[in-house]
Amino acid sequence: MNGIFLTLEGGEGCGKTTQLERVAEALRASSGREIVTARSPGGTAVAEKIRDILKKPETGEDLLPETELMLFGACHAQMCEHMIRPALARGAVVISDRFTDSTLVYQGCARRIAPETVARVNDFVCRGTRPDLVIVLDIPVELGLRRAKGRDAGAKQDDRFDSAPVAFHTAVRNGFLELARRDPGRFAVIDASPSEEQVTRSILEAIHARLAIL
Ligand code: TMP
Repeated sequence: MNGIFLTLEGGEGCGKTTQLERVAEALRASSGREIVTARSPGGTAVAEKIRDILKKPETGEDLLPETELMLFGACHAQMCEHMIRPALARGAVVISDRFTDSTLVYQGCARRIAPETVARVNDFVCRGTRPDLVIVLDIPVELGLRRAKGRDAGAKQDDRFDSAPVAFHTAVRNGFLELARRDPGRFAVIDASPSEEQVTRSILEAIHARLAIL
């Protein structure tokens, strides 16, 4: 049986992390398949260490967009080799909270590195491993930021990405919508503003519609 690779993407406060757990649970119950969850940046011992460098400003040293690109690339290389490819080879369904489409959008559209450069790094580190379906949880920027702030109160002020200006988050939102517009066969955009239950239902419908085997 072939493995299936799904990702959940979207801006801050779109509810990806909650939805990932809910969708994984529903698929575990309904599909009878092994379901593996992952998160980027993170998911392996080395990638979790890199996550700390990327998310926390505590060194006080400014991280260049180029440095971010390389560090996210390193995370994705480790994830592909040590988690995703082995799971897919076993026939599992892998669901990742973010992956390389975040790199295209955050380091490309928002940090303004040329999209071809980001795409080349993604191809280099993933060696052909790419999501079969990308679910974009779309939410207006202000609502997403309000939700993210309410969720994590103080912690989020220390997060290099959450504390970025609104224009950054707007570029992220538009970036995901543009990727989805260009590749509608591989992307599904879901409105993330309704209730958690409704959003889970919409995600599962999109998965069943695109990947009839699940
Ligand atoms: P999150 O796990 O709370 O979503 O935090 C991950 C942050 O890292 C989020 O703000 C998006 C950002 N990010 C990138 O900038 N590029 C990437 O390739 C990935 C995977 C995440």
